[in-house]
Amino acid sequence: MSDNALSSCRAFVFDAYGTLFDVGSAVARLRDSVGDEADRLSALWRQKQLEYTWLRSLMGEFADFWTVTGDALDFAMDQTGKKDPALRAKLMETYLSLDTFPEVVSTLKALKDQGHKLAILSNGARHMLISAAKSSGILSLFDQILCVDDLKTYKPHPDVYQLAVDKLEVEPGEISFQSSNGWDIAGAGHFGFRTAWINRAQNPTERLSHVPDVILGGLDELLPLVSQNNKS
Ligand code: LAC
Repeated sequence: MSDNALSSCRAFVFDAYGTLFDVGSAVARLRDSVGDEADRLSALWRQKQLEYTWLRSLMGEFADFWTVTGDALDFAMDQTGKKDPALRAKLMETYLSLDTFPEVVSTLKALKDQGHKLAILSNGARHMLISAAKSSGILSLFDQILCVDDLKTYKPHPDVYQLAVDKLEVEPGEISFQSSNGWDIAGAGHFGFRTAWINRAQNPTERLSHVPDVILGGLDELLPLVSQNNKS
């Protein structure tokens, strides 16, 4: 891990789900209604949600993230033997106001105060991202909310990372990309971003082509690197 990996970065771009927003908070809020196998349902839901984005990209058959999230939840509910349309509706609704991880708001504010450009770059549908960002009070901190609605393909396709370059008007090497998803870090690094893997769960590294520039236990660990870089 290099202290200087992020020193030339002028823009900080964030993955949304799992990085800013705690996807586990959806099932956690309704744990009593979900009952047995809440953790299994939550993990399956997320796993299928991601798989469906990648599979749809490969098939060239786009459906937006709201649809994919609903399809993944249907699979997970089937697999765990839950037939409850009202619960399904409530679980989907929570996706529009997911909790942020504890350090998210203060870290974003600090980066903003230091004059950096901030953006979300997510596979999420625009309405989902706006709603979750509004409900957690972080929407106004971002210069751009970048989503795949118009591109109709999903990260880690390079076209998605290109969106940040085009909209923020900075070079790929001037972007520090933060994600808790190892596959997303690999895609962003392959594209040419600097990458900070937010490995809260202490997962093993993905065996893909790109190694993260820095590995952090939370987003707040960015701040000493960035302020130090600003001084140098
Ligand atoms: C995101 C995901 C899928 O792009 O984590 O926000």
